This record gives sequence, C-alpha cells and structure tokens, in this order.
Amino acid sequence: MKGGLPQVFTLCSVILLVASVAGAADIFLDWNVSFDWNIRPVLFRQPVITINGMFPGPLINSTTNDMIHVNIFNNIDEPLLMTWNGIQQRLNSWQDGVSGTNCPIKPGRNWTYEFQVKDQIGSFFYFPSTNFQRAAGGFGPLRVNNRDVILVPFPKPEAEFDLLIGDWHSIPYKDVRGILANKHMRLSPALYILINGKAPYNNVWGGEYESLKVEHGKTYRLRISNVGNALSFNFRIQNHQMILVETEGSYTDQIVLDSLDVHVGQSYSVLFTANQQESDYYIVASPTQIDTRNYPNINGVAVLHYANSNTQLSGPLPPGPDQLDRVFSINQAKSIRWNLTTGAARPNPQGTFNVTNVTISQTFILHGSEAELGDRRCYTINNVSYLTLSTPLKLADYFVNGSGVYQLDAFPTNSVNQEAALGTSVVTGNHKGWIELVFKNDLDVMDSWHLDGFGFYVVGFGDGEWNPASRETYNLYNPVVRSTVQVYPGGWTAVYAYLDNPGMWNLRSQRLENWYLGEEMYVRVHDNDLNPAKERPPPENLLLCGIFAPKGSPPAPAPAVSSAPALSPLGDW
Ligand SMILES: *[C@@H]1O[C@H](CO)[C@@H](O)[C@H](O)[C@H]1NC(C)=O
Ligand SMILES: *[C@@H]1O[C@H](CO)[C@@H](O)[C@H](O)[C@H]1NC(C)=O
Ligand SMILES: *[C@@H]1O[C@H](CO)[C@@H](O)[C@H](O)[C@H]1NC(C)=O
Ligand SMILES: *[C@@H]1O[C@H](CO)[C@@H](O)[C@H](O)[C@H]1NC(C)=O
Ligand SMILES: *[C@@H]1O[C@H](CO)[C@@H](O)[C@H](O)[C@H]1NC(C)=O
Ligand SMILES: *[C@@H]1O[C@H](CO)[C@@H](O)[C@H](O)[C@H]1NC(C)=O
Ligand SMILES: *[C@@H]1O[C@H](CO)[C@@H](O)[C@H](O)[C@H]1NC(C)=O
Ligand SMILES: *[C@@H]1O[C@H](CO)[C@@H](O)[C@H](O)[C@H]1NC(C)=O
Repeated sequence: MKGGLPQVFTLCSVILLVASVAGAADIFLDWNVSFDWNIRPVLFRQPVITINGMFPGPLINSTTNDMIHVNIFNNIDEPLLMTWNGIQQRLNSWQDGVSGTNCPIKPGRNWTYEFQVKDQIGSFFYFPSTNFQRAAGGFGPLRVNNRDVILVPFPKPEAEFDLLIGDWHSIPYKDVRGILANKHMRLSPALYILINGKAPYNNVWGGEYESLKVEHGKTYRLRISNVGNALSFNFRIQNHQMILVETEGSYTDQIVLDSLDVHVGQSYSVLFTANQQESDYYIVASPTQIDTRNYPNINGVAVLHYANSNTQLSGPLPPGPDQLDRVFSINQAKSIRWNLTTGAARPNPQGTFNVTNVTISQTFILHGSEAELGDRRCYTINNVSYLTLSTPLKLADYFVNGSGVYQLDAFPTNSVNQEAALGTSVVTGNHKGWIELVFKNDLDVMDSWHLDGFGFYVVGFGDGEWNPASRETYNLYNPVVRSTVQVYPGGWTAVYAYLDNPGMWNLRSQRLENWYLGEEMYVRVHDNDLNPAKERPPPENLLLCGIFAPKGSPPAPAPAVSSAPALSPLGDW
C-alpha cells in the first residue's frame, strides 16, 4: 500500500489514501507544521501554528479500528510532539506524543506516528503537547465514526460540523511562556475566544468570523471541543435547543439543553434542528465559572445562517446562565450519564462493562495546587511539581527499567505531607485493577484532569474536602465514561478507571498553564506476564534522545522557517 503513495510532499495538500484491510482502513497523512504570522485571528500579529497552511489543522476522519499514519514535518523553530487527546493507544503508549513517551521531532525533521483507533468511537482532537504550543494553534479535530455494522443511537444528521473553541492570548505564545517563567508576574486571562480559529462576529479589527450554513428542517451534529488555555465556556445557539448525544467516545443519555458547559480539553457532540424562522442566529461561547465582567468582549461568537436568510445579525447576544452559577454547572455535569443500552465501538451495549459492583484496587487522592520553588512559580500535585526530563520515561522503562532516570512510586499518592518539591512522578497503576482517582482542586479557578490510555468513569462531584464517606454520594449505576473531567474550585471530582492497558500514561491538568508549570505525573501500568504479544514493541522508527541519544549523531538540518518575519510582531496593527 505504501508503494502507491505519492513521493512528493506538497504544501496545502492533505494526502489521504484510504484502503480497505479486513474491515479497517489505513489513513495516510502528510503534515507540514509551520508558523504563519499573517493569519491574525486577533488584532495583534503573532505566530500561529498551522498544518498544511490550515488553522485549525485538518480533520482526521476515521472509523473504529482504522490505522492512522501521520508523517509530521516539523517546520517550526522548536521541538514538536503531537498528542491525540482521548485516543487510547491500546498497548501502544509509544505513539502517545507526550514528553514522557516520545522524543520530540526536531526542527527541520519529520517523523511518522502510526496508531490504531482501536475499539473507540467519538469526538476528539489533537494538539502539540509541549512548550505551550497549543496556545499558538496546531490543533485539529479527530473523529472516530461507527463501523457500519453498529447502530448509532440517533438518526443520521444532515451534516456534521467540528467546532474547536478556545480562549486565545493577544501576545505570542513564547511571550506567554516568558510571563510564566517569572514568579513575580501573573498571566491575566486571555482576552479572546476563537471559534475554529476565527474572530468573534462583528469584531472591530475586521477578522473573519465562523458561519455555519444550514437548511430549514434539517438536523445537524456539532462536535464541540474546548482547545483553549484556561477558560471553561458555556455554549449556546440563539433560539435553538440542543440534544446532547456523545462525549469523548461515549454515547450519553440524550438530554435536551439550552446551553452546555465545556471545560478545557473536553469534547461533546450535540444535535440541533434548524427549526426556527429562516434567519441568522448567534452561536456563543462565553466564559463560565470565572468573573470576566471587566472584559465583556471575551465571548466567542459565530453565526448560524439559514440558507434563505437575508437578515443581518444585530442586538445583544443570547444570555447564558450566570457566569458564577456553580449549581447550574454541577447539576448539568451530574446529569450527563452513560447510555447503558446502546452499542458504541462494539455491538454489545456500553453498560455491559460497568462499575456497579467493582472492587477498587487503588485509591489516589490528588491535590492540584500552586507553590513557589526558588525563583519559579509552579503548579503541583500533592506538592510535587513535575520535572520534565530529556529522556522519555517510556524509553527508560523499556531499556533500563527506569534505572537512573526515575524512581518508581516515590510520589505520595494520597497525602500532601511535605514541602513543595520538583520530582519526576511515576507511580504504579495495578494492571487489570480498578483505580479510584479523587481530584481535589485547591485553586480558585476551574481545573480539568485527563488520563491518557483510559476512560474515566465519572462517579462523583463534591464541594470541600473528599472523605471516604463521600463515596456514598457516587453514581455507580451509569457514570459517563470520558477522558477529561472538570474539577470545580475548592471541590473534588472522583473517577474510576480500569487499568487494562499496559504502558506509561500521562495524567495531567488540561489547563495549559498548570500543565506547563508542573501539574502532571505518569502512571506506569506494567504487565508482569512475560508472554509476548502483550504491550507492543517500540516502533521501527523509534526516536532516541536524552541518555539514549546516539553518540556523535549529526546535528539536525537548519529549520525551514525562521521564527520571526521581517516586521516587528507587535508593530503594525
Ligand atoms: C512547509 O511550510 C513552510 C511554510 O509555509 C514552507 O516554507 C515549506 O516549504 C513547507 N515544506 C514543505 C515540505 O512543503
Ligand atoms: C467521514 O467518513 C465517513 C465514513 O466513511 C463519511 O461518511 C463522511 O462523509 C466523511 N466525512 C468527511 C467530512 O470526510
Ligand atoms: C520522513 O518523510 C519521508 C518522506 O515522506 C518518509 O519516507 C520517511 O519515512 C519519514 N521519516 C520518518 C522517520 O517518519
Ligand atoms: C440509548 O440508546 C438507545 C439505542 O440503543 C436509544 O434507543 C435510547 O433512546 C437511548 N436512551 C437515551 C436516554 O438517550
Ligand atoms: C453491570 O454488569 C453486570 C455484569 O455484567 C450486569 O449483571 C449488570 O446488569 C450491569 N449493570 C447495568 C446497570 O447494566
Ligand atoms: C456484587 O458484589 C457482591 C459482594 O462482593 C456480591 O455478593 C454480588 O453477587 C455482586 N453482584 C453482582 C451482580 O455481581
Ligand atoms: C524494575 O524496577 C522495579 C522497581 O522500580 C523493580 O521492582 C523490578 O524488580 C525491576 N525489574 C527488573 C527486571 O529489574
Ligand atoms: C506544600 O508546600 C508548601 C511550600 O513548601 C507549604 O507551605 C505547604 O505547607 C505544603 N502543603 C502541605 C499540606 O504540607
């Protein structure tokens, strides 16, 4: 199949070849990742990370069990890792694209990720995982469609739209990093929310806005992801109700919504029917669970445009719930339940694999907090701020059993009993055990947590401290399964996960500032059974770096793109 691939890599062409192999297909993609200083989604000129010239990057449109091959050419001026948010990388943490599993692709080089979207369906996105690059773009939608043989629990919509929405800073992402490196500075909230990389409707600087074209009477699916830095948003469509159907690979009980809260790193599918008078309507993503009354223009605003509409939108945006209404937000979160009777990636119902009666083998209580360490401000888990090494943990695990790189289980998994410190936290997750993770948010802002390799069964939310009696409030009947869960300021969120996927798995805050400054750790799930054909061997193109870097290897060629254009980045607006 590879022999049939065009050998020439062309700009702006997504080379997508699909071939049928025993039901599943191979999808081949060539991606040129580079900076574009001319896109200007906001007033200020800044580098935007594009893929084949696109921002957001191209859709990966796959079906359960497809093999995806993405050959990534790094044409930005720093190392690059791409991660696949919510894709479980079954037995294959080698392709996870985070600093603990992969060596980065150096500037001017290319590398091919090859992974299977095994036993999954749903809405996801990909993004660059290091160096705060997600704040500059490089993200894009990833769909995993149902196989034909498995019924989807709602009629086929007329069309689907991917909406990648996130807050956006007005300064270049490297300048944001500069602020974060200085403990005397505080990063203020971003001043913009972009919808598919586009400016809000009616912006004063003439930036292009997003518009969705619909026909009267038809039903559409929106796949909404929060690709932002820090802000949770409330999503709504003027005069239209939505039906929630899916989140991060699970079909939910279908509930009717006027608006939906989406926290950083989360993805949802909703259906809506264009059943209103033929006109234009606002689509709004406004910050929630934070007071932004001093910055009234942060809202992301797009347009829902009926085919025969010739009205020009004006007037106020449709109001959402009160920004600080936590009760609304938590009640909505608790109402998102797993549909137990529908099949998803497999024909048997989702509910056959449930937590009603499982035995927990481990409990971790993880406090997300802040601390100062010497001249740095950092974020911590149980007072440990993650120290990223140049040697990926997975390589160290494979070649030298971790020796000399990380110390297994030195991390306190259920206490905060020490002075804040830096540490490369790697803890054992019991293979084929159920783990209970309690995330406690000691900050005064929303946080959200994500574990690679597994789904979270979201069993409970609560205020204040968690204690064992809090378990009595858990929903063990039909908790939704997803990969990113929010934790409210001062509160806790409890999840279960079944650790049947050996590998080195990243557990992190999805809030970019928190992750970048250390709210991260790894869970090592090891299968002691040496019988082969369990975890996959390293890929043939395995990159080596850190202590495993080949001796005397030639330096990488100079990057194809310089980091700055001739004009001053902040100069000409
Ligand atoms: C990738 O994009 C950059 C910037 O647009 C361009 O200079 C370079 O030639 C492209 N590389 C390839 C291989 O197309
Ligand atoms: C994605 O793939 C599905 C299934 O093959 C197909 O029906 C659909 O048209 C594709 N969508 C896009 C946007 O390519
Ligand atoms: C780099 O790209 C070339 C050209 O497409 C390809 O043959 C090669 O396998 C890629 N290298 C890696 C490490 O993926
Ligand atoms: C759950 O999925 C089934 C399809 O198996 C569907 O008929 C039913 O309406 C769904 N239930 C809810 C509450 O959405
Ligand atoms: C959970 O799974 C068990 C074992 O398969 C099954 O007996 C039970 O009915 C399931 N519970 C639900 C709510 O589907
Ligand atoms: C649930 O667990 C209890 C105690 O461990 C056991 O007695 C019971 O049979 C289990 N029920 C199911 C449906 O597995
Ligand atoms: C690998 O390291 C762990 C502790 O980090 C130890 O328990 C185990 O025995 C080691 N395995 C081998 C094969 O050395
Ligand atoms: C966490 O570390 C900070 C700074 O060293 C310290 O002030 C704080 O008391 C520690 N927290 C706990 C619960 O010990």
